[in-house]
Amino acid sequence: MEFTFTEEQEMIRQAARDYAQRELIKDVLERDAKAEYPTHHVKALAELGFMGMLVSPKYDGGGMDTISYVLAMEEISKVDSSCSVIMSVNNSLVCYGIEAFASEEQKEKYLKPLARGEKIGAFLLSEPDAGSDATSQRTTAIDMGDHYLVNGTKNWITSANSASTYLLIAQTNVEKGHKGINVLIVEKDSPGITLGPHEDKMGMRSSDTHSVMFNDVKVPKENRIGEDGFGFKFAMKTLEGGRIGIAAQALGIASGAYERAVQYAKDRKAFGTQIINHQSLGFKLAEMLMRIEASRYFCLKAAWLKDQHLPYGTASAMAKYYAAETAMFVTTEAVQIHGGYGYVKEYHVERLMREAKLTQIYEGTSEIQKIIISRAIMTE
Ligand code: CAA
Repeated sequence: MEFTFTEEQEMIRQAARDYAQRELIKDVLERDAKAEYPTHHVKALAELGFMGMLVSPKYDGGGMDTISYVLAMEEISKVDSSCSVIMSVNNSLVCYGIEAFASEEQKEKYLKPLARGEKIGAFLLSEPDAGSDATSQRTTAIDMGDHYLVNGTKNWITSANSASTYLLIAQTNVEKGHKGINVLIVEKDSPGITLGPHEDKMGMRSSDTHSVMFNDVKVPKENRIGEDGFGFKFAMKTLEGGRIGIAAQALGIASGAYERAVQYAKDRKAFGTQIINHQSLGFKLAEMLMRIEASRYFCLKAAWLKDQHLPYGTASAMAKYYAAETAMFVTTEAVQIHGGYGYVKEYHVERLMREAKLTQIYEGTSEIQKIIISRAIMTE
């Protein structure tokens, strides 16, 4: 067993760190305050090859492995999870879903611009009444012969406005339950699509989140991915990899907050010494570091399994659960260590704490990860 990274993986980590520490940091507070979409950063991340990192060079992607993806996601998320969620959804939900399951024609047309980062993708699964319970899809895609007619509403869609390519999960045949669900590639500018207002979120405020309404939207039949009824399995398979991205994001949020807490504890003096010398604080930092290290191993294990083409669904659920819980714990402690300074925006840790909360909710809540893990135990 190796615990070292390759030269290429180290270079990718360094490139992500450099960009985050040099560029993202400059306007992250302002973008958070204004909930402003990071257009120029997404363009720069695309130039670094980070928007289609995992896609094969055959489809204009970076051809990087999942370990590198975890390293890059961690570094970007230390500074700005609004950017890393855009990156994560594009890479591990949209590009992965198309590369793994779509036809050659679909890949040529849709995957290449997404992998180059010229276009952004969104993944439309959640609905007003189908969040955790993803089989209860109400959005319908009725088979009209040469096209599907789509009606319904999707909720909480990351990149809904900035994306031009949607992967839409919708019900075609209600009687067949989850076996009647399809996945369609939908162009955002199709007639009949409208967006709800920009969601005023607690954290990750500069990524754009909207609901998306479909009113008699015609989607060509050739835009269905896979066989009729493949949509639910497609969503489940794709989310397995997506959860590695969000686990790495949570890891980055935790390590970003930890680094700030250590620095503050060294700089700040109280009772005649640096506060890091107080055991109550040293113990806090020790606990934070141990949980971060454990999260890192979970993330890398899941990424390694994926790279080896071994089953990784349970490992990614464990990574997502543990890293998200750790992010919440570590960011809360980082605010505590900062005292009053932690409660104001300038010191970043309150923002990281708001960002951490979302990692416990999206791409399957912490409770959903436990369902996945406990079901795996039952079928062992
Ligand atoms: N791979 C392949 N197939 C799978 C699978 C997987 N990982 N998980 C389930 N399936 C299959 C099952 O085998 C079953 O098929 P058969 O009937 O043929 O055997 C079928 O799917 C239904 O499975 P379940 O009976 O287990 O389904 P369930 O209703 O009990 O739900 C669940 C399972 C894991 C809870 C699922 O609903 C789930 O993952 N929910 C959370 C959804 C989620 O993560 N949403 C996030 C939205 S996306 C997002 O947040 C992106 C963003 O913008 C950042």
